[in-house]
Amino acid sequence: MSVSSRAHSFNTAADQYAAGRPSYPPALFDFIEQFANRSLAGARVADVGAGTGIATALLRERGAHVIGVEPGDAMAAQFHTLLPDVPVVRGDGNALPLADASHDLITYAQSWQWTDTNRSVPEALRVLRADGALAIWWNTTAFDVPWIREQHQRIARHCGVKPTSQTRPDDSDAIRLAGLSGLPVARRQVRWSRTVSLDTQLANITSRSAFLVLAEDDKRAFVGEERGRLRELFPDEVVEETYVVDLLVATRL
Ligand SMILES: C[S@@+](CC[C@H](N)C(=O)[O-])C[C@H]1O[C@@H](n2cnc3c(N)ncnc32)[C@H](O)[C@@H]1O
Repeated sequence: MSVSSRAHSFNTAADQYAAGRPSYPPALFDFIEQFANRSLAGARVADVGAGTGIATALLRERGAHVIGVEPGDAMAAQFHTLLPDVPVVRGDGNALPLADASHDLITYAQSWQWTDTNRSVPEALRVLRADGALAIWWNTTAFDVPWIREQHQRIARHCGVKPTSQTRPDDSDAIRLAGLSGLPVARRQVRWSRTVSLDTQLANITSRSAFLVLAEDDKRAFVGEERGRLRELFPDEVVEETYVVDLLVATRL
């Protein structure tokens, strides 16, 4: 399965995505402000790979003037339904449909990995103002929580993808893997949890790209078995999901 098919797979399940995906903790936005050395209030922000607008909504709550950039039709349509008064433009991170030196902050919430960093890094630098910053982050797996670790391994096995390494990259590897070597970059990891229904937990795991590209009956079979396993662990069908948000903020030299 190509990277491009997975990058576009979200479009097939935009409703499920909006229903199941985790948000981001307030501390993440505090660190973005600290590392970007400016308040989000009044900042001109482009949220790229905005999807259904989960991060966009939080940036706006902090007072940012935010615009979404999203390549997928269905994701952009969900964005528009959920955030009707926030502009969303069609485009991707490799060729941003934004003017030179027009933004204080460019954000990528769980979407930087779909870009070609040989193109998306220069594009971000083109669109940012002189004192602007690029913030990228991911909700990563809390491998020290046994049920989360085991579920991660089951999903990887079922979808035929390599499980994520349980050893987190050190700062220099994380910066290199993100294609940001040579720029000043600050990194912070923020642990957080959310409590959700069992149905939301299942909608969350089935909205992941490795899962979205599977055949329908294959997905159904996995979800049925997973529901049974989780019911044994969480008989009241209330699940605590834990994440570690991995944040990188790059500024100019
Ligand atoms: C995992 S979703 C993240 C959505 C949203 N930012 C969030 O926090 O929920 C990844 C998003 O990246 C988008 N995407 C795929 N390829 C992209 C690219 N080359 N540049 C920017 N976004 C891309 C997908 O359409 C999808 O909406």
